[in-house]
Formats: sequence, C-alpha cells, structure tokens
Amino acid sequence: MSDRSGIFAGDDPFVIAQSWLTEAEGTEVNDPNSIALSTVDADGLPNARMVLLKEIESAAFVFYTNYESRKAQEIDQAGKAAFVMHWKSLRRQIRVRGLVEKEDGPQADAYYASRSLKSRLGAWASHQSQPLSSRAALMAEVARITARQGTNPPRPPFWGGYRISPLEIEFWADGAFRLHDRFRWSRKDMSDSWNIARLNP
Ligand SMILES: Cc1cc2nc3c(=O)[nH]c(=O)nc-3n(C[C@H](O)[C@H](O)[C@H](O)COP(=O)(O)O)c2cc1C
Repeated sequence: MSDRSGIFAGDDPFVIAQSWLTEAEGTEVNDPNSIALSTVDADGLPNARMVLLKEIESAAFVFYTNYESRKAQEIDQAGKAAFVMHWKSLRRQIRVRGLVEKEDGPQADAYYASRSLKSRLGAWASHQSQPLSSRAALMAEVARITARQGTNPPRPPFWGGYRISPLEIEFWADGAFRLHDRFRWSRKDMSDSWNIARLNP
C-alpha cells in the first residue's frame, strides 16, 4: 500500500496527529495547536483565519468560536471546512478537509467553564466579526457584562464548538532538497475505511 514508517507509522490518523501535536508542544515558541481554518462564503470565495484546536478526538477535531461570527456563518451554510497546521520547529504540516457540525452540548459547557473568568466574560462581550466603534466601547461592554453575569457566567448561547470530521488528512514532513514526504489518508464517506497514498512532494 505505502511505505510508511517512523513519524508516519500507524493505522489511526488521529493518533498520528495527536503524537505530532504533542511533539510540537515541546518545540514550538507558542500556540502549537493553532490552525489556519478555511471556509467558503455563499459565493464560493475562500476565507481563512487562525483558531486554536482544542481537542483531537478519536474521529474528529474540535475548536471553539462565536456562532454569529463570519466563520460560523460560512460553516453553517457550507457544512464543510478545511484547516492546516504548520510547525516551523518540526518542519511539518497536517492538512484536514471535512464535514462540520456544532458541539454545543456538555462538552462545550465544560470547555467554556475551564477558561479564565476574563475570557468567559470576553466571549459574552464580543460580537465577533461585527463592526466596533472603539476599543472603549468594547471595554464598556465588558464592564456591563461583568456587572450582569458576575463570577460564574454560563456559556453564551452564541458561543461553542465546531467538530470537523475529516474526509481527508494529509501528513507532510520536510525532506532534503524539497523532496518532502506526504501521505494522504482519504475516504469518500465517514463510514468508509481509509485509503492511504504517498504523494509526490
Ligand atoms: C493564534 C490565534 C488563535 C486564535 N484562536 C481563535 C479561536 O480559537 N477562536 C476564535 O474564534 N478566534 C480565534 N482567533 C481569532 C481569529 O483568527 C479571527 O480573528 C476571529 O475568530 C474572527 O474570524 P471570522 O470573522 O472569520 O469569524 C485566533 C487568532 C490567532 C492569531
């Protein structure tokens, strides 16, 4: 099938992704879990921004955001997204394309509760992706929310997770003279088994 070994070895791409991320946690300057998340708008115009990957599950990737943000609108209308994570220190990348659904249950509640109080209040105060008249207006909103919500705010109904279930995962590692190693795991449907192919660099 393919000559995978070393850092590419294994029969579960989520285990490989977790092991690469764990390695990057020891080598990156900051935010080893940052991903460039890509969406498309209703006209098919692509969009990208960084977010933090918060969970690698047994069959999916989860991040958290504002459900009224631009990215959320684009995800909700397309039901699909892609992301890439790149570690300069390891000279590796992982690319993911897949189907997306909301994680707005107890798992989102638990993650929200784990954040610092200021971050929890900030999630309430930010109308993410909407125009803002000034920084002072944002700080006034934070003060208003703090007075109203106190020290134990519930998760805002407009804030939670998205779970990306991949149809494709590609592992890439730098090779000498641009002769990189690439392995693409792909499947037509979530219930299919993975097809693994080595790709030209
Ligand atoms: C390293 C990094 C991590 C970020 N993590 C998140 C995140 O986890 N969730 C989020 O909503 N925005 C995050 N942001 C901000 C987003 O890049 C973006 O500005 C915001 O989500 C609004 O995007 P949108 O208007 O396309 O929805 C992060 C930015 C950077 C640079």
